[in-house]
Parts: sequence; C-alpha cells; structure tokens
Amino acid sequence: MKITNLGSQSYASFYVACELYKQMNGDKHSKLGLATGGTMVDVYRFLVELLHKNQLDVSDVITFNLDEYVGLTSNHPQSYHYYMNDILFNQYPYFTTTQTYIPRGDADDLDQEAKRYEQLIDELGPVDIQILGIGENGHIGFNEPGTDLNSPTHIVDLTESTIQANSRYFEHEAEVPKQAVSMGLASILKAKRIILLAFGEKKRAAITKLAQKEVNKDVPATILHAHPNVEIYVDDAAAPF
Ligand code: GLP
Repeated sequence: MKITNLGSQSYASFYVACELYKQMNGDKHSKLGLATGGTMVDVYRFLVELLHKNQLDVSDVITFNLDEYVGLTSNHPQSYHYYMNDILFNQYPYFTTTQTYIPRGDADDLDQEAKRYEQLIDELGPVDIQILGIGENGHIGFNEPGTDLNSPTHIVDLTESTIQANSRYFEHEAEVPKQAVSMGLASILKAKRIILLAFGEKKRAAITKLAQKEVNKDVPATILHAHPNVEIYVDDAAAPF
C-alpha cells in the first residue's frame, strides 16, 4: 500500500478521474466499484468532463456502488441512488444503457437484498478499480469499527459518530438513517485494484492509523493491508507525515 500526498483535493480528484477514464478507454467491458460522499464529488465532475470531451462509449461498462441507506427510496435526495444519478449517471448519456448497480435500501427483505448483491458482484465481477472514501472513524463503505474482516454485503447498524458526521448532508440529525446495506470488507477486497481518497484535517487521524501497516478491526480500512494493489491519495491536510 502506498500513501501519496497529491497536495490538493483537485489534483487528487483529477488524477483518479483520469485513472477511471483510462480504465474504461482501455477495456470497454470494465467494471468499476464506485463510492459516494463529499470526497467523490470532484472525481465525478472531472470524469464527466473527460467523457464528454472524448465521447467515450461506456455502454458496456458495469458499475457497482458500495452502499445505500436503509429506508431511503432512490428518489430521496440524500439516497446514494439519487447522488449517483445526479452527479454521474444523468450527466453522460451513455450511462443510461450502462448496467449500474447499487444495493437497494428500500428492499422488503434486506438480508435477501444483501445476498443478491454479493451474488451479482461474484457473477459480473471482479471489479477492475474500486474507489473508496474513508469515514472519520476509519470505515470504508459503511463497514464500521468491529466489522468482521470476512464480511460479505450485509446490513449495518451505523455508529453514532457516522450518523453525526453524515448529518451534515441532512437537514436534521434525526433524519439520518440508522442502518445501511453495505458491501462488506471481503466484497471490497475482491477488486483487482483499490484507490482510496481522503481530504481534509478530519481524515488525518484515520489515515495516520492506516499508515501504521497493521490490520486492526477497530479501524476497518486497515484491512486494505491484506490486498496487494492499493493506492491512497491524500491532500496536505489529511497527510499523515
Ligand atoms: C460515508 C460513506 C462512505 C464514505 C464516507 C466519507 O458514510 N458510506 O462510503 O467514504 O462516509 O464520506 P465523505 O466523503 O462525505 O467524507
């Protein structure tokens, strides 16, 4: 695992957008693992620009998103379905024919939905590039501290600290869902290449723990040490050195 300080959010986001673009340009059947959150906004903005400029046909690309809040329908403005449509899929016409998968947080049988999603990853994967953000408590996807290191897609009880951190996207903290469907740590590790991004001072503690090179259940992102192909890009504020 390499941690590289690219200086600013813009530089790092542009770099990762180029990597995603190059992947799709090199293989029209690419499979991308996508993430949400404030960290990814500029990545998708730059990616949409690159796609438009070059008119790349992405209709055979497959995408898998990491997670979704339980109880939010796809048209809820804070759902990750809405985020992805708004920021990426509706911004580039070819994505309308692309297969874009996101776990359903409004499924009647959530355990069944988690199983279905993991099967999809196994049938259609493996993912070529998985992009990840990181929670202030070191979560990836919605895998909170203490998550089983072998976990497949599953239902998660969100921790108080995650609910509080994510309340910045909702009008009131009480509106933040208490659960999510998330790819597990084992699902994430199935990807061939993983790129994690972290920006801002609030992420520095988590990145510092990650830099310690030990797998620690209390900091879920440290499971990435068990993967042979992980890159981490940070800005000055999140850099641990
Ligand atoms: C959320 C998401 C993660 C994301 C993280 C950081 O809870 N489930 O996938 O990486 O928290 O979010 P942000 O980029 O908004 O700081």
